[in-house]
Amino acid sequence: MKILITGSNGLLGQKLIYALLNRNDITIIACARGENRITRKNGYHYESCDLSDQFTVTEIIKKHQPDCIIHTAAMTNVDACELDPISCRRYNVDAVHYLVEACKEFKTHFINISTDFVFDGTAGPYTEEDVANPLSVYAHSKMEGEKIVLESGLPWTILRTMIIYGVTDDKQRSNIVLWAKKSLEEGQSINVINDQFRGPTLAEDLADACIVAAINKTQGLFHVSGKEVISILEIAERVADFFDLDKKFIQPITTASLKQAALRPLKTGFIIEKAERELNFHPCRLEDGLKVISEQLLKRQEA
Ligand SMILES: NC(=O)c1ccc[n+]([C@@H]2O[C@H](COP(=O)([O-])OP(=O)(O)OC[C@H]3O[C@@H](n4cnc5c(N)ncnc54)[C@H](OP(=O)(O)O)[C@@H]3O)[C@@H](O)[C@H]2O)c1
Repeated sequence: MKILITGSNGLLGQKLIYALLNRNDITIIACARGENRITRKNGYHYESCDLSDQFTVTEIIKKHQPDCIIHTAAMTNVDACELDPISCRRYNVDAVHYLVEACKEFKTHFINISTDFVFDGTAGPYTEEDVANPLSVYAHSKMEGEKIVLESGLPWTILRTMIIYGVTDDKQRSNIVLWAKKSLEEGQSINVINDQFRGPTLAEDLADACIVAAINKTQGLFHVSGKEVISILEIAERVADFFDLDKKFIQPITTASLKQAALRPLKTGFIIEKAERELNFHPCRLEDGLKVISEQLLKRQEA
């Protein structure tokens, strides 16, 4: 089986490549913008590709003819999307359209990664049946991406996820856990939102769910996230507790006081029963995820 991963330089993309490298029955094509930022360079084929260029997208799909594509690439900075809706559309909507069009000839199984931000956050935790109501340019773009995939006529899977945390090879991509850990270690004060609630998701867990969907050709819409629905503030506090750092540097703030460019849903969280049943998805608790991160950071220091 041949699987093409878009966004292989990103957090989820890197985890997918490493997880697939542990198997010997998959041909892996990694695809990302610019140079390959994954430390390990062997065991897969790398294509540098800007997905907003339709010609390149078509050429790459034609060349490799993957059985399955796991599309993780996206413009993921929510405020940047709000301030630059044209780029957001190119990367989050047009790119999906180009990939889907190119995949039609080969009937590729299209696995698309989407977000809890398709909901407005007034009634979380959400099931797959709940009605979406995106609040931001980013959320609208991801919703449009979903629509393109589910109307494509291709075999499709949409995995919605949220607040992914994990360690990447190139350290370029931070997330709530790494940011809180680093800031507190340096004795820096951090403002952390106390009125947004999410289910923190270990990148490795999400990668496993993607791979199960790919291998078993499981189709449909799935909510895939950590099971605990907690405030961003609680995430930071539990990071501090786990790594034995001083919580006095954590300053609780409200969403309203932050005045970010894009609106965020206040309380999301997912009911993940469908993913548990059909994707054998059993995400870890935050502390178990922090243990994984701590071991990876230790290994990196030793290397
Ligand atoms: N992170 C979260 O908390 C979260 C929550 C909900 C949903 N999601 C969704 O989950 C998916 C994976 O998220 P992630 O955190 O792993 O993302 P990420 O770390 O930001 O990685 C996304 C990757 O997409 C690449 N990319 C963007 N535009 C591209 C283009 N035109 N051509 C080629 N590559 C392009 C970026 O390349 P460069 O590195 O070159 O910029 C980046 O490496 C995304 O679809 C995101 O919307 C994420």
